Amino acid sequence: MKKWFMPGLITACCLIAVLMVFFSLRDKEPSGGTHEAAPSASAGEAPAAVDAEAATAIYKSNCLACHGDQLQGGMGPALTKVGADMSEADIHKQILNGGGGMPAFKGTLTDEQIATLTSWLAAKK
Ligand code: HEC
Repeated sequence: MKKWFMPGLITACCLIAVLMVFFSLRDKEPSGGTHEAAPSASAGEAPAAVDAEAATAIYKSNCLACHGDQLQGGMGPALTKVGADMSEADIHKQILNGGGGMPAFKGTLTDEQIATLTSWLAAKK
């Protein structure tokens, strides 16, 4: 009885080990493929929607008084098509430094808020 017990046990362990490796390899391949595809598909759309919302909120509390609730202008010029008239760099400079009756927002808004506003306005063509 004892003579075959140890070799038998070792053989059984080896078989179980081989089967576990086999099944873990088989499980990994399909799930690895779907994991990669899912996040990249949703990542493309999420930031754009959030940016417009954030930009509108910043605009309403800082710019609306002079540029109007529909970007139609008032004390300042209309911004409805500002992206066609000005480069993104010029819009950025105007918000940072102001000028011509417009206050500078360098100290009031964060770099990130100004960047959000700039790309939002640059897209208005
Ligand atoms: C106190 C009023 C006032 C506020 C507040 C204000 N602006 Fe202005 N803005 C102006 C005036 C006036 C001009 C015209 C400047 C000039 O002709 O040099 C202007 C010009 C601009 C321009 C250039 C447009 C063009 O066609 O020349 C941009 C872009 C702009 N503002 C964006 C903003 C943004 C974004 C905000 C909010 C962060 C803002 N402004 C807040 C008064 C204001």
